[in-house]
Amino acid sequence: RATDVVVLGAGPAGLVLGNLLQNRGVDCVVLERAERAHIQTRARAGFLAANTVRILERHGLAEGLRRHGQAHSTCEFRSADGRFRLDYGGLGRGERHTVYPQQLLVTDLLTRFLAVGGRVEFGTEAVAVLDADTDRPSVTVREADGRPGRWGARYVAGCDGRHGAARRSLPTGTVRRHHCDHGVTWLGLLAEAPPSMDAVGYAVHERGFAGHMARTSEITRYYVQCARGTAADSWSEQRIWDELDLRMRGAEYGPLHRGRVVQRAVVDLESDVLEPLRHGSLFLAGDAAGLVSPSAAKGANLAVLEAEILADALADDLVHRDSKGLDAYSARCLPYIWRAQEFSHWMIRLLHGGPGGHGGHGSSEGWSDGSAGGASPFHDSLRRSRIDSLRTSRS
Ligand code: APR
Repeated sequence: RATDVVVLGAGPAGLVLGNLLQNRGVDCVVLERAERAHIQTRARAGFLAANTVRILERHGLAEGLRRHGQAHSTCEFRSADGRFRLDYGGLGRGERHTVYPQQLLVTDLLTRFLAVGGRVEFGTEAVAVLDADTDRPSVTVREADGRPGRWGARYVAGCDGRHGAARRSLPTGTVRRHHCDHGVTWLGLLAEAPPSMDAVGYAVHERGFAGHMARTSEITRYYVQCARGTAADSWSEQRIWDELDLRMRGAEYGPLHRGRVVQRAVVDLESDVLEPLRHGSLFLAGDAAGLVSPSAAKGANLAVLEAEILADALADDLVHRDSKGLDAYSARCLPYIWRAQEFSHWMIRLLHGGPGGHGGHGSSEGWSDGSAGGASPFHDSLRRSRIDSLRTSRS
């Protein structure tokens, strides 16, 4: 089978790309390994930046988030020095986030794509991208019934995430992977509990970081820093809530609203960037192009931004025979990617102190006794100074 653009993956990157290509009259197909119900219920990120909302609005994809998203513009920081609120919506460019669970955005994007005639092959796993160095690449697949298949195309867009076929198919020797393991591990939780405050909550504590992020009126995401190698199911619900309450200083600022923990996953904070984002006829976008650690909620936003740039470039080439956008794709995206990396890296150091969250480069001097978040006195002071400047500096 053949089309102009084969899009691998029906996450935010692949579905925004599919919609925008369809809007421009470019023939495409989205191949998705999972079933439809799975992608529509998979809870992941939830914070959309103002620019992301503008992109989605520009292409008629923002109706659901306009109707059901919640405006958000305040973070609360808690530490041994007290607590304060950073109303970032009243600073800088005055931009706010929209809280809209990613599975709802994915559902909106998918519904719209199918409604305008878009094709998605669910249960179809891309195995490899072949002949990306020619202008007739193809994608080998395992179909829903288990049989092998193949899609031919003019271009392939790899939007299939960090473990996808696009990354696996990159030619050796031409791609550079810049990788950083931040040495910090979080236990990420979804709780069937209403939010405990009307802000994103960041708690810096000698026992380690804890975070609170609203999702809906009934569901809240929490993060609690844990030791590297912790198994996701090794903490009891009681221990999770006690630890969250302690680190978020519930005794001083009010206890958290507890509820059933309905999903948990251990995340080692890692980042990478693959350079360049183009390999002949194969283009990377979203997590396939680079991973941003979840500390700053940039991943889904970058995915949408890259998808828009790629859609324009592909349509210019396929509709108007103008290949300048494709040639410039990688160079246009990389500054945004590195900017997001820089912010998320700064955020990690703000919340965890020194490298590894322990403050030392392999030296045990000054560590606190085995807790996940102990920082050396030096790095702890840096962290306090960073938080203090957030409290006092308008810029
Ligand atoms: N073949 C087909 N589909 C695949 C394959 C494959 N070999 N491998 C993965 N997929 C699918 C996954 O099932 C998933 O639906 O590709 C999709 C990739 O989607 P995401 O992982 O959501 O990646 P992306 O669209 O790049 O989204 C980026 O969303 O949640 C945020 O922070 C997260 O940074 C991430 C962002």
